[in-house]
Amino acid sequence: TLTALLAALASYLLGSVPAAAWVARMRGVDIRKVGSGNSGATNVLRSLGKGPALVVAVFDILKGALAVGLGRALGLEEPWAALCGVLAVIGHNFSPFLGFRGGKGVATSFGTVAALHPVVGLGAFVLAISCMWLTRFVSAGSILGAAAVVVLSVALGLPGWLVAVMVFLAALLVWQHRENVKKLLAGTERRLGEKA
Ligand code: G3P
Repeated sequence: TLTALLAALASYLLGSVPAAAWVARMRGVDIRKVGSGNSGATNVLRSLGKGPALVVAVFDILKGALAVGLGRALGLEEPWAALCGVLAVIGHNFSPFLGFRGGKGVATSFGTVAALHPVVGLGAFVLAISCMWLTRFVSAGSILGAAAVVVLSVALGLPGWLVAVMVFLAALLVWQHRENVKKLLAGTERRLGEKA
């Protein structure tokens, strides 16, 4: 339907708003050229500090949650609302404002997952934050959180289409972290609090 297509387009555009790159630019920093080079809250934390990182994290989480909410508000069926959330993540990772590059989709995926299934979102969040706290690797916590989303979705008996959405989001997140995985294995990944 036309409504579904417009919601999908709006969700992609909302997701593509590169909060990290633009907040950094306002501070005179090119986020692609500092720290990990990633356009995400973690790299903003590394390069600009806690305040700007919190702004970026909240904004990027809202992109996912609001995209799902938009689909629902327009009266779309739940799988279409889920597709809106997925498109927000795709917009974030492959943003036309950044030459179809972007971030790794951690915050935006969390917003989408939490909107689709708050229990899965909360469970994955607690595990991810615990891992980040213990290891000081945000990437490792993010990947563990993605795995937790899949395990919880299956364990809680979510419908097949929703499990498929969760698996897609988790797989995309892990793929976006391929450089982080190499660095984790090589022992060269940056820890939280380490200088950019
Ligand atoms: O924010 C994504 C996080 O999991 C990793 O970011 O900058 O350490 O590659 P970064």
